[in-house]
Amino acid sequence: MSHRIAAKITGVAGYLPPRVVTNADIEKMVDTTDEWIRTRTGIRERRYAEPGVASSHLGTEAAKKLLAMKGISPAEIDMIVVATVTPDMLFPATACLIQDRLGATKAWGFDLSAACSGFLYALTVGAQFVGAGSHKKVLVIGSDVMTSIIDFKDRATCVLFGDGAGAVLVEPATSETEGIIDFAHDIDGSGGCNLYMPGGGSLHPPSHETIDARMHYVHQEGQQVFKYAVRRISELACQLLERNRISSKDLALVVPHQANLRIIRAMQERLGMDDSKVMVNIDHYGNTTAATIPLGLMDALEQKRLQKGDLVLLIAVGAGYTSGAILMRWAY
Ligand code: UT7
Repeated sequence: MSHRIAAKITGVAGYLPPRVVTNADIEKMVDTTDEWIRTRTGIRERRYAEPGVASSHLGTEAAKKLLAMKGISPAEIDMIVVATVTPDMLFPATACLIQDRLGATKAWGFDLSAACSGFLYALTVGAQFVGAGSHKKVLVIGSDVMTSIIDFKDRATCVLFGDGAGAVLVEPATSETEGIIDFAHDIDGSGGCNLYMPGGGSLHPPSHETIDARMHYVHQEGQQVFKYAVRRISELACQLLERNRISSKDLALVVPHQANLRIIRAMQERLGMDDSKVMVNIDHYGNTTAATIPLGLMDALEQKRLQKGDLVLLIAVGAGYTSGAILMRWAY
């Protein structure tokens, strides 16, 4: 059974911190090579935020660009949902900080934690309020400063991530032929131990011991996550297409989470799609966690790969494990 939501994306913007860090730069920090990073992940460069720049700052910049682009006043925003695993602080929510900086005086909002699937979870949640008719303009933001939680002594993880933010505006769909056609999400908490940050929460509050044990950094069992992601992302894509009786050939574009080019290509092969229909920008930004999908939409629009009426599939798998996919007909 599919779950239509009478809501559509009406604008997309992103913000990337200006500092570009290439694989050659990373070679100077850890024992790695440009060749290893490129062939194992597809990454060539990523962006790093300067010290003192947090997820709320990147998210605010993306949201400001979006509002300017749409010619909308911040006071028109009803709700702000922020997906992030690197909130500025445990509380207040990053959504509160962004709301204040924007001057979105009528908005309520909150943060949502679903790692690499976070943006899609936030989009489904925000869209539900629009589809229900109670909200007219919802800002959905994915923002992460991954450099605040990566261990620059762990070459297996530090080469993968970058910092960035993306934001979309969600408004009511005005006809049956536009907006969100269906969505699917699931979690499998048995995989939680394969990608996590052990320290800093209520289980292991910060202490000298947790710092010494490097518990405030991303820990990943790369191969376990890789295998799960390849299987689940393909299954989920097929499931969503099948239940809507849509062939992968009908899709104009897939915008997948950008964790590893090999994961993306495996899904693409399973769907029988060629490169022109699959958005890839991991080479420039690395894995920006909650920001990859809105940044993918932003680049796809800039490259004119997305037109009104196109069928688009957004899809992600990440820490948790969390998974999500949203099928939509592009509305502008
Ligand atoms: O977005 C959230 C979800 N995350 C993901 O989807 C990530 C999923 N996992 C992956 O993308 C991949 O597992 C990685 C990119 C993290 C690693 O690639 P891999 O092909 O699975 O490599 P591996 O972990 O099996 O390591 C292969 C070799 C090892 O050396 P030995 O034991 O074969 O001698 C590693 O020590 O590569 C070595 N290695 C490196 N060498 C150079 C690991 N990291 C590096 C590195 N530079 N940065």
